[in-house]
Amino acid sequence: MSEENQNILSAYEWITKLYHHLLRYTKDGKEGYQYFKNRGITDETIDVFQLGFAPNVKDFTAEFLQKKGFHQQILVKAGLLSLNEDNSVTDRFRSRVIFPIRNHLGKSIGFGGRTIGDQEPKYLNSSESELFQKGRILYNFDLAKKHIRKQNEVVLFEGYMDVISAYQAEVKNAVATLGTSLTESQAKLLRRYVDTVTICYDADNAGTEATYKAAVLLQKIGCHVKIANLRENMDPDSFIQEFGATAFKDEVIKASYTFTSFYMRYLKKDFNLSLESDRIQYIESVLKQLAMIESSVEREYYLKEISNEYNVTMESLTQEIQNHQQKMS
Ligand code: UTP
Ligand code: MN
Ligand code: MN
Ligand code: MN
Ligand code: MN
Repeated sequence: MSEENQNILSAYEWITKLYHHLLRYTKDGKEGYQYFKNRGITDETIDVFQLGFAPNVKDFTAEFLQKKGFHQQILVKAGLLSLNEDNSVTDRFRSRVIFPIRNHLGKSIGFGGRTIGDQEPKYLNSSESELFQKGRILYNFDLAKKHIRKQNEVVLFEGYMDVISAYQAEVKNAVATLGTSLTESQAKLLRRYVDTVTICYDADNAGTEATYKAAVLLQKIGCHVKIANLRENMDPDSFIQEFGATAFKDEVIKASYTFTSFYMRYLKKDFNLSLESDRIQYIESVLKQLAMIESSVEREYYLKEISNEYNVTMESLTQEIQNHQQKMS
């Protein structure tokens, strides 16, 4: 590793410890501590994830790290300071709780900082660097790895708080794609460790679109995909806070959907099912997907569902599936 990157790692190590210490033990970090308490996060969890607080001082980080001998230029590269037009610098993270983002060796390489008020953006990340590339990292992969291996399964979330709440709910094979959609590099990383991925993104429009894309990508590289059963407009963290760990494990994770079942619901958004012509097109689109299912038992299961719901005979549905299969072969 270049000397510069070693310096950046070392700067992150110092400032991660300081932000964490501030939050946990000092008056200056009290607001941050209280913020996590209000969201149901325990001291033990705060320590495991090294959660911290960056105070509302514009050169707190710059001062501390420069005293430790780090050059301003390195700290800008590290994404910890922003360079102003007059070449002065300002701390990037101010008055935000800090989620250290760790690499696979557990070293912090970037931060997510959440406002404790209503500033925009809600979450601010370290700027990208050679060491910190959002599309190549999965939040919490280092700690989740042994659980992922043991269970041959991973649960994929959108955000920091989802992973942290899942951890408290004893779902420890949990990682997150820092808000962005799952990249090929992240998908391949997961594929090396598991056969099955349960996608547990937010049950809103953005989350549903991201779920579809992630599922297609994961299946393309050979993963078996399940979709968590989160009720509408919830996110995993809000579900756990409201309904508890047991409900989360039993009703959301264990009761997850197959991809086909998710897709049959997902497709409906493109159609106005009160129109006959749309209903027919919808059924046609579903059949195209069902034609790709290898298990005839699974296929028949969904065909029956369609047959009952739309009052079409199994014969015509089966005939149509065969037409598609002939086209594919
Ligand atoms: P969400 O938008 O779902 O977070 O983004 P949230 O559930 O509302 O956040 P809380 O619960 O109020 O704290 C999910 C993830 O997307 C990234 C963050 O990693 C976040 O955890 N994100 C979100 C950003 O990077 N920037 C943003 O402005 C928002
Ligand atoms: Mn949001
Ligand atoms: Mn979201
Ligand atoms: Mn969310
Ligand atoms: Mn949330």
